[in-house]
Amino acid sequence: MMLPSINPSETQAWQKLREHFFDMQYVDMKEMFAQDENRAQKFHIQWEQFLVDYSKNRINQKTIDLLLELANEVGLKQAIEAQFSGTNINQTENRAVLHTALRAKENEVVLVGGKNVVPEIFAVKNKMKSFSNEIFSGDKKGFSGKAFTDIVNIGVGGSDLGPAMVVESLQFYKNHLNVHFISNVDGDHVQEILKKVNPETTLFVVASKTFTTQETLSNAETVRTWFLKSATQKDVAKHFIAVSANIKKANDFGISEENIFPMWDWVGGRFSLWSAVGLSISLAVGFDNFEKLLSGANKMDEHFKTASFDKNIPVILALLTIWYNNFFGAESEALIPYSQYLQKLAPYLQQGIMESNGKSVGRDGFPVNYQTGTIIWGEPGTNSQHAFFQLIHQGTKLIPTDFIGFRKSLYNNNSHHDKLMSNFFAQTEALLNGKTETQVLAEFKKDGVSQEKAAALLPFKVFQGNKPTTTFLIDSLTPETLGSLIAMYEHKIFVQGIIWNIFSYDQWGVELGKQLANTILEEIDQKEIKQHDASTSFLLRNYLK
Ligand code: F6P
Repeated sequence: MMLPSINPSETQAWQKLREHFFDMQYVDMKEMFAQDENRAQKFHIQWEQFLVDYSKNRINQKTIDLLLELANEVGLKQAIEAQFSGTNINQTENRAVLHTALRAKENEVVLVGGKNVVPEIFAVKNKMKSFSNEIFSGDKKGFSGKAFTDIVNIGVGGSDLGPAMVVESLQFYKNHLNVHFISNVDGDHVQEILKKVNPETTLFVVASKTFTTQETLSNAETVRTWFLKSATQKDVAKHFIAVSANIKKANDFGISEENIFPMWDWVGGRFSLWSAVGLSISLAVGFDNFEKLLSGANKMDEHFKTASFDKNIPVILALLTIWYNNFFGAESEALIPYSQYLQKLAPYLQQGIMESNGKSVGRDGFPVNYQTGTIIWGEPGTNSQHAFFQLIHQGTKLIPTDFIGFRKSLYNNNSHHDKLMSNFFAQTEALLNGKTETQVLAEFKKDGVSQEKAAALLPFKVFQGNKPTTTFLIDSLTPETLGSLIAMYEHKIFVQGIIWNIFSYDQWGVELGKQLANTILEEIDQKEIKQHDASTSFLLRNYLK
């Protein structure tokens, strides 16, 4: 089944939502809370260890009903079935989209072109398991007979961001191996990492789905040259392994087939941390924890497939984004984890969300006449409170914000955790309620501020409030809950793409820059600048001076 092409703005639900928006655009959430003491009861979902409270959004029951109507009208249910059953929903690349199969249970059957791929997936997982065990037990040794101490993942985009984010997030569960990431083709980045490692005790994982990515291949070559200053060509096999869907190219690079962990073309780069791209995760936290990560994601997959849409977390989250993006005109969303471990979550999701849904052509091949992908950004709280929260509170832009917090801290440092979490709750409360003139004046009075000064300061101290937030309160940060959290956002991306009638799983937009960079590199090498626009020629000449 091909995905249908339905312009969402021409659906009946969209027309109704447009009318409904006029009733809702100035509604104050504070008043809705005052009128309905059950509002939080109505607009939350409790699932496994996740409490998702979306009551602090500019919605009422009618908004949700109409958004659900929209989801039904664009055929979301059938689209979900098409994705999970291995249909080639990545039509522009003629591929299935099956990162979900990577976390399927062993007895599940997932067909790609009529073939069950679950046994192959488990074969690769078993290879990852024994390899990881041998490395951290010290059974597998480097060329001089010493056990490995450091792992360097060389990859970029999906072959870097996912594993780097998970390794950072699961630091608490880490074993003795130090894991580093080289991604940027910036030679200074490579050198800074190489400064920290010893060639005798370092394993290099070259991760690239295509094995054609300039950054990764250049970095891998530089690292190999550095390695060969201390070792011989035959030692390369012990220290360099690859993860790729392009076995031939990995082989051409000099990595023997037994040292290549395969992946498949039905796994998109930005959704690949569940595949052998996750090898550095498995090396950092142990294969058992990697499996728990997969199992948490699998639970979210089941929830997404089976829960009715009104109780379906990814569906509700996607619909809220549609509401703000397409009706309120909000352009960006912030994501604020109240856990320092999750500092790389927003950069990781930037690729997932913006590479997937940053599209302007509909599935019918025509430009869309509505807004699509949102801009995503964020940093952990409370640091972000002291950085950009001012703009969310009192700026002119509407920025729906996700707050992610945990009931327990991993080190049971309750005094810190209570402080952290009181900020977490306080921010969403402040964003909801703001501060009225009456409240500000009462404060002035209490502090003995003169009437003149109070009148002058009043407009600046008033907070409008009514800023939408969604709160995720999760028991604790474990491999399993992290897996569920990532999968939750993956499915949110999918639902949005279906509604916006775009293809979420290609990324043609990043190709042009790559092609031009190759042309420019040749010109730089030959010191001969050819035909460019006047600005680019001027800059290139200046660079070559
Ligand atoms: O930036 C484009 C992109 O193709 C991403 O989608 C991908 O994650 C990244 O490059 C790296 O690709 P590869 O894993 O093939 O090296």
